[in-house]
Amino acid sequence: MNLLTPPDLHAPLDAVEQADPIVRGPEKPVEAQDDSVQLAPAPGGAGGDSLEVHGLGLTLADGRRLLSDVSFSARPGSLTAIIGPSGAGKSTLAKLVAGALTPTAGEVCFGGHDLHTEYPALRHRVGLVPQDDVVHHQLTVAAALRYAAELRLPQASAQQQDAAVTRVLEELELTGHAHTRVDRLSGGQRKRASVAMELLTGPALLILDEPTTGLDPALDRQVMAGLRRLADAGRVVLVVTHCLTYLDVCDQVVFLAPGGKTAYCGPTHQIGADLGSTDWADLFADVAADPDAAHHAFLTRRGPHTRPPRSSRRGSAPRPARCRLARQVRTVARRQVRLIAADRGYFCFLAVLPFVLGALTLLVPGHVGLGIANPRGADADEPVQIVFLLSIGAVFMGTALTIRDLVGERSIFRREQAVGLSAIAYLCAKIAVYALTAAAQTAVLTTIVVLGKGAPTRGAVAVGNPLLELYLTLAATAAVAAVMGLALSAVAKSQDQILPMLVISVMLSIVFCGGMIPVTGRPGLDQLSWAIPARWGFAATASTADLHTIAPLLQTKDTLWSHHNGWWLLDMTALILLGAILAGCIHWRIRLGAMSPTRTPGTARRWTRQLWAHHRCDRPRRRVGTPVVVGHLLPTNASA
Ligand SMILES: Nc1ncnc2c1ncn2[C@@H]1O[C@H](COP(=O)(O)OP(=O)(O)OP(=O)(O)O)[C@@H](O)[C@H]1O
Ligand SMILES: [Mg+2]
Repeated sequence: MNLLTPPDLHAPLDAVEQADPIVRGPEKPVEAQDDSVQLAPAPGGAGGDSLEVHGLGLTLADGRRLLSDVSFSARPGSLTAIIGPSGAGKSTLAKLVAGALTPTAGEVCFGGHDLHTEYPALRHRVGLVPQDDVVHHQLTVAAALRYAAELRLPQASAQQQDAAVTRVLEELELTGHAHTRVDRLSGGQRKRASVAMELLTGPALLILDEPTTGLDPALDRQVMAGLRRLADAGRVVLVVTHCLTYLDVCDQVVFLAPGGKTAYCGPTHQIGADLGSTDWADLFADVAADPDAAHHAFLTRRGPHTRPPRSSRRGSAPRPARCRLARQVRTVARRQVRLIAADRGYFCFLAVLPFVLGALTLLVPGHVGLGIANPRGADADEPVQIVFLLSIGAVFMGTALTIRDLVGERSIFRREQAVGLSAIAYLCAKIAVYALTAAAQTAVLTTIVVLGKGAPTRGAVAVGNPLLELYLTLAATAAVAAVMGLALSAVAKSQDQILPMLVISVMLSIVFCGGMIPVTGRPGLDQLSWAIPARWGFAATASTADLHTIAPLLQTKDTLWSHHNGWWLLDMTALILLGAILAGCIHWRIRLGAMSPTRTPGTARRWTRQLWAHHRCDRPRRRVGTPVVVGHLLPTNASA
């Protein structure tokens, strides 16, 4: 199959039909005992699965209706276009049908199974290509697909995953671009790479949100022709589009008026006859001017929609194999390392940063280093300045390392999460890779400062070697700061918020660490500082260096800085505990974003239940009929 093939739209089924079962639509892999992937028939049986959308609606908690009473059917092998004015609710409908959002009314049945209540079992059968690219731009096409295959086909062997990647590359004619970085592809090629991701699992239902936006007319036609062929291979294909020139390749059209009201639903060729015009500009203007009238006219023409017959529903869809958490952690961690290395500019910044911070620390005047300073000498403040710069340097390195991470790949994570990536595996992998990177950076920083200023002179309090203890303290500070950076990245709504967040977090660390501005014994301020990792990192470093003794001019006498193993252990425990709490908050945040959260009674209980169920890679669904809260409604849009 080729999205760039000339539009011989009714050509016989091509190689897709003879393709390896792993990428075929009507079948899906199930858990295998050995290295091979066994294939089970899809819920729809040999004839493929039909899509039944009945009375679908979405109403916000404030009463605003984004979608009302949308019903249509799509048989296997059909291509359905969803069209309508901007803001009519097309993307909302696409996400609801894909299971990415949960409706407040109606149902979506695929192959006789309720897509929302049985989503964990059906998610591998549904492919959603959102408007945003959901491929890492720094990776090559083949690498991105290979990692996706590991995450989406966990039960397949490495050879089968390779075969699946080769197959989708061929299917979308991307083989020639397999080793090209995604950010060097054209818009159309990038879109095909996103489609290829979704085809890895052989979805029988494929939904694309505006795949032709930004493409020239020739590419637009070729993409539509490609979708026709994807449908001809036996899939149910839905495409949201603004481009109406090649609508005739579609079998049917769902025309939405503002408010998500259906103005037309039926065969493409009948629109003119039903709506009284073939001029799209007129039709769009009419439905936008009076959506209710357009919807009423549609209802009058169509009559009541009958609910899909109960007899067509079968038992629960079989669940796909459970995700192996450790395997997901390994895959995401390997991918993360590759992403860091592939981003040359960022990699150089990370490599140079500890040298710059180390060199700046060497600018502190004096020769006493971390030895006992002479209170009447010119270098009386040298020890405290070194400890301060080391601690804040570690915090800065850790935070800068991660703060742009989660917000930058949120839409990719959302999609991966929808097809089975566990939030906890994702987070563990990120923390592991970034903690090790932060530890490596800290090693450089510590080495430079120790070579230039000397090692701690007062002996270790807990681990036997003062140099090792100093390094462990700073490495832990940087690692926890990296988790803090991830937490900030998880709450950021866009990349634009990253810089202000970084500045504020570093300023807070400088002020609340207690090394520059006294916080000890100042009610309120002291307690507030406990929530700042730099406070505990500085305290542990001060404890190792014995700041009370080596900086005799220091006015602040903080017991947390005492040169005793009990205090050092307390500081380190508090630091690591803070990191664990931040990690829990990030998990909570990215978990919540994946659901359609509600603030109705009973929600807290449900969320708690879902949190406990996190280790199962299932995606708990909200019951139909509960209002949705604005702001959390469309995570993909919100993050865009
Ligand atoms: N996160 C959100 N919270 C509340 N309302 C939202 C959210 N995202 C979108 N909406 C609203 O939902 C309605 C439908 O949005 P949707 O994105 O589905 O429109 P669309 O038809 O896809 O538009 P376009 O053609 O511009 O992509 C719009 O009125 C929009 O303002
Ligand atoms: Mg849209």
